Amino acid sequence: MVGSAILRTLKSKGFSNFVYRTSKELDLRDQQAVKRFFSEQKPDYVVLAAARVGGIMANIQSPATFLYDNLMIQSNIINSSYESGVKKLLFLGSSCIYPRNAKQPMKEEYLLDGKVEPTNEGYAIAKIAGMKLCEMYNRQYQTDYISVMPCNIYGYGDNFDSNNSHVVAALIKKFHEAKIEKRPEVVVWGSGNARRELLFVDDLADACVYLLDNYSGNDFFNIGSGVDISIRELANLISGIVGYHGEIQFDRSMPDGMPQKLMDVQRITDLGWKYQVSLKEGLSLTYHWYLDNFKNV
Ligand SMILES: NC(=O)c1ccc[n+]([C@@H]2O[C@H](COP(=O)([O-])OP(=O)(O)OC[C@H]3O[C@@H](n4cnc5c(N)ncnc54)[C@H](OP(=O)(O)O)[C@@H]3O)[C@@H](O)[C@H]2O)c1
Repeated sequence: MVGSAILRTLKSKGFSNFVYRTSKELDLRDQQAVKRFFSEQKPDYVVLAAARVGGIMANIQSPATFLYDNLMIQSNIINSSYESGVKKLLFLGSSCIYPRNAKQPMKEEYLLDGKVEPTNEGYAIAKIAGMKLCEMYNRQYQTDYISVMPCNIYGYGDNFDSNNSHVVAALIKKFHEAKIEKRPEVVVWGSGNARRELLFVDDLADACVYLLDNYSGNDFFNIGSGVDISIRELANLISGIVGYHGEIQFDRSMPDGMPQKLMDVQRITDLGWKYQVSLKEGLSLTYHWYLDNFKNV
């Protein structure tokens, strides 16, 4: 989702001469294959958007996979970038890096002030390591590697797989199927009270390109809207957009994850960037994308 959006944004700004591979063509966990790729292709700029990504259940069931795959992917890319003389690299982290009990909204300074959320510990530890790796390569080798920590992202190209999706894609699919099958109620995981900050994927892509153009240094950046919404409110909003009129029930036996995840976005705001797409507009665009593509997603 995010890599494709960054590519779209770069193309729309007139950039060309891209090189990218699917995971089938190049397994980024394979150190030798990644070294070969970099020495053959010699890219100037690298956007590291590949990662093992998944929803709360996938993270609970496969914590070792989330830690191992992400450590391997990012270590291989960052080190090969250094060895092949890449001019600039952007690493995509996540708001999961912050402590579970972090004060809200979460400022960049709160990193490593406490324990991360246990349901996605493997993923979070890998993301912290990736961001620190960028920082330490900069310190030791004077590279220009920067990191962003996006909030929950949704939009075109999202993963609608029931076992692996994030909240927006999962709710769109649930409400759409319930509408088609005329089901009287939809059950949503968790209490509905957890709060999440959501950003449309094209806004994240825009922020990434903005930072590649406008920032070098060892600060990392929270990327979000600076506003959050409860899962209950989100479910109501999505059911309205989808046109589902049945009951919404909450299954409290399923985990909520972090009670609230809202980021302080002052640092990127001060640099001159702000999101454009409202939540309602972004959800509507995503639902229409799903309708056009759901046979293939
Ligand atoms: N989505 C969010 O809400 C969110 C929020 C914060 C941060 N992020 C970060 O943004 C980045 C992109 O996330 P996304 O939502 O765009 O996820 P995505 O749609 O699942 O994309 C991840 C990509 O990584 C590739 N990949 C995974 N393992 C690979 C491997 N071993 N070798 C090569 N490629 C591999 C996948 O390829 P295949 O599909 O071919 O396996 C996929 O194209 C990630 O770093 C993620 O942590 C995402």
